[in-house]
Amino acid sequence: MAARTLIAPSILASDFSRLGEEVRAIEAAGADWVHVDVMDGHFVPNITIGPDVVKALRPHATIPFDVHLMISPADPYLEAFREAGADWISVHPEAGPHLHRTLRRIRELGAKAGVVLNPGSDIQALQWMIEDIDLVLVMSVNPGFGGQSFISSQLRKVEALRKMIDASGREIVLEVDGGVTPDTAPRCIAAGATALVAGSAVFRGGPERYAANIAALRG
Ligand code: DX5
Ligand code: ZN
Repeated sequence: MAARTLIAPSILASDFSRLGEEVRAIEAAGADWVHVDVMDGHFVPNITIGPDVVKALRPHATIPFDVHLMISPADPYLEAFREAGADWISVHPEAGPHLHRTLRRIRELGAKAGVVLNPGSDIQALQWMIEDIDLVLVMSVNPGFGGQSFISSQLRKVEALRKMIDASGREIVLEVDGGVTPDTAPRCIAAGATALVAGSAVFRGGPERYAANIAALRG
């Protein structure tokens, strides 16, 4: 039997005036990870939160923090995010010239290393560093904002990555991010995803809905 799909609510869709409570509420509602979208207004056209906010939130949850860096350069900030409590740190290949070095650095810091693929990005380069990857995050929207529509063509990429990961024999988390809803989640899981990020689909309806919203994504 396949392992249970990990659900990682993106706090981008939460109430920023009550972030600590929101993180506690999603853990109580059954979330597996807390997904933190870090944006710099340069790599993506939006600005969100930095390491100090991650540090402030860390005591509010026991589940892992899955930090998605949409910043360029990323390397100067890896240590700060790790010290703030990031368990998983994922970077976009386009954010810097030396992806392999960045992944090694993330692991040296004691975190798990992830690579994020934009809708237009290819998977081929990953096969040359598969040993250095703990997670692949497939963007099913263009990064920068929550609440966008799912780009179905990315399911073929998830299928191709599933094959690449299985052939490698490594335990690599295959995560999908963007437009994940109760409609699109089963398609991601069928294509081979093992973790799903969801912002709007988890936080809609307020805290009393979080448990039902998360359960609806597991299918
Ligand atoms: C987009 C972010 C996503 C986003 C997901 O740049 O990486 O994590 O917040 O939001 P929804 O689930 O609303 O598409
Ligand atoms: Zn994200």
